[in-house]
Amino acid sequence: MEQYAIKGGNPLVGEVEIGGAKNAALAVLAAAIMTDETVTIENVPDVNDTRVLLQAMESIGVVVERLDRHTVKINASMISELVIEDDFIKKIRASYYLLGALLGKYKHAEVALPGGCNIGSRKIDLHIKGFKALGAEVKIEHGLWITDAERLQGAHIYLDTVSVGATINIMMASALAEGKTIIENAAKEPHVVDAANFLNSMGANIKGAGTDVIRITGVEKLHASEYSIIPDQIEAGTFMFAAAITKGDVTVKNVIPKHLESTTAKLIEMGCQVEESDDAVRVVASKRLEATQVKTLPYPGFPTDMQPQIGVALSLASGTSIVTESIFDNRFKYIDELTKMGANVKVEGNTAVISGVEHFTSAALTAPDLRAGAALVLACLSAEGFSTVEDINYVERGYEDFPQKLQSLGAQIEKVASDRDLQKFKLKVG
Ligand code: UD1
Repeated sequence: MEQYAIKGGNPLVGEVEIGGAKNAALAVLAAAIMTDETVTIENVPDVNDTRVLLQAMESIGVVVERLDRHTVKINASMISELVIEDDFIKKIRASYYLLGALLGKYKHAEVALPGGCNIGSRKIDLHIKGFKALGAEVKIEHGLWITDAERLQGAHIYLDTVSVGATINIMMASALAEGKTIIENAAKEPHVVDAANFLNSMGANIKGAGTDVIRITGVEKLHASEYSIIPDQIEAGTFMFAAAITKGDVTVKNVIPKHLESTTAKLIEMGCQVEESDDAVRVVASKRLEATQVKTLPYPGFPTDMQPQIGVALSLASGTSIVTESIFDNRFKYIDELTKMGANVKVEGNTAVISGVEHFTSAALTAPDLRAGAALVLACLSAEGFSTVEDINYVERGYEDFPQKLQSLGAQIEKVASDRDLQKFKLKVG
C-alpha cells in the first residue's frame, strides 16, 4: 500500500513554487464545457481531482488535449451525453459543477449524488434551490440528480448559507439564462472570483464576484478563451505552516499575498515573522510558537481548509489554544492521529481545546481526508525519527508533487509502495 515514509526533525528551509488553485481549476474546467468553441486553460494543477474531472468530461464526449503538464485545451462541441456517472462523483464532489454547466448550456443534466472528502454533511440543497429559482425542475432518480428546464429565466436568489459550490454553480447556470440574476449572500472566495473572471473571458456578463452580491446578465452563448488559473491559497498556506511547524524558513513563490491574509495574520500572532513581496511570502519561525484562538469562516475569514494545518501548529505552541470549526461538522478526525504523536487536544463538538506540547514523537498515521492528511505530514516532519502516513490518495487529490516539493525544502520524505521500499528509505536516511 502506498504511503509516505518520513524522517522528521529538520527545519524546512528554502523556496517553493505554488501551483494553480485546485478549487478554482475544478470550477473553471467545468465551465469550459459551456461553449462549443475551444478553450485553453493554463496553470491547471496536475492533481487527482483535476484528472478525474477531466475524465468525467471526456466520458460525455468533451475533447481534452493536454498541451503540457499544466495546460489543457478543451473542446465541448461534441458532447454526446448529459449524464455524469457515479464513479466520477464518488471520487470528487466538485463534479457537481457539471450540473450547473450542463444545465446552463443544454437546459438538462443528470449527475450522480456527490461524494468527496468526508468532512461533514455536505449538502447541495442550495445549488438545487438556485436551479429551481431559475426555472429548472430538479428531481432525484436512481441516485442521479436530474435537472431539466425548457428555458432558464434570471432570478433573485438568496443563499441561506455562504456556499462556494452553490455560488459558482448558480453563476454558471445563470450565465446562459434569460435576463438578470442576483445572488445574495454569495461566497467571496478567490476561486469564486476566478470562475467569474473566466466566464466573463468567454463572454458572460457577471459583476460583483468577490462581494456578497453577484449580478449576472444572461447572454445567448459563450465563446473561446485563453485563461490562467490563480495560485492555490491553500497549497501556499500549507507550506507557510510547514515553516511554522518545523521551525523553518520557507518562501512560497507565485502567490497572491492578499489571498493569504488570514493565514499570515495567524502566523504573526503565533510569533512567526512574515515578509510579503509582490508575488511571494516568506515565513520564518525561529522560536517556539505561541497559542492563539482561531475560528474558521468563509473568505476573507480563516479557511476551513487550513484548520488542520493550524491545529497541528497550535498543538506544538506554548499555552492553550482554541480552534472552532464553523463550516463543516466532521473536521477534527486528524486529532486522534495527532494524539498518537503525543498531542494534548480535547474536542467538544466543533471546538478543539489544544494544550501545546514541546514536541511530537514519531508514529504510524492514517490520513483521514485531504487537508488533514497534509497537516499530518507536517506533524511527522517536525517529529524526530521515522513516521509513516497511509491513505495518501487523499493528499494526492489536492497537492501536486507534495513529497518532491517538501524534499526541495530539505525534508526527508518519500512515497513508498511496499515494506521493502520503506526499509530502503530507512537505510538511506539512517
Ligand atoms: C468548497 C471547497 C472546499 C472548502 C469549502 C469551504 C471546492 C471544490 N471545495 O467546498 O475545499 O472546504 O468550499 O470553503 O471548491 N452547504 C449547505 N447547502 C449547500 C451547500 C453547502 O448547507 O447546498 C453548507 C455546507 O454543508 C457547509 C457550508 O455550506 O457547511 C459551506 O460549504 P460550501 O462552501 O458549499 O463548500 P463546498 O463548495 O462543498
